[in-house]
Amino acid sequence: MNRTLPVLLAVASLTLPAFSLRADDAKAVWMKKCALCHGADGSGKPAMKTKDYTKAEEQAKMKDEEILKAIQEGVPNSKMKGYAGKLSGDEIKALATFVRSLKK
Ligand code: HEC
Repeated sequence: MNRTLPVLLAVASLTLPAFSLRADDAKAVWMKKCALCHGADGSGKPAMKTKDYTKAEEQAKMKDEEILKAIQEGVPNSKMKGYAGKLSGDEIKALATFVRSLKK
């Protein structure tokens, strides 16, 4: 048997997970860091004055750049704090995509 194949497979398995953040990972971060104020399903919490991201109207009001900026820098005069420095750029991008996926 060719001996380079197992070596190649081992190298591939080491490098692959670093490629990109999967949707599952974004969901895990959401449940840990965001669900408290936005709800597990993104429908919002009245006490926090968060919007219902499961609604198409609320999704339509947000631009992609605004979602990214809100997660990076926070929303002024709200409880929404920025996550730049706490989460990686990839995590923030994955979360922005995840916020879009909350729409029902
Ligand atoms: C301490 C409570 C709190 C936490 C934790 C929190 N948020 Fe927020 N978030 C808010 C509030 C309050 C607003 C402003 C009201 C709104 O837009 O829903 C907001 C706004 C936003 C917006 C902007 C919406 C718009 O209208 O442009 C996004 C996107 C967002 N949050 C995503 C997240 C993500 C992702 C996380 C987790 C990494 C998170 N939030 C964690 C309270 C929170």
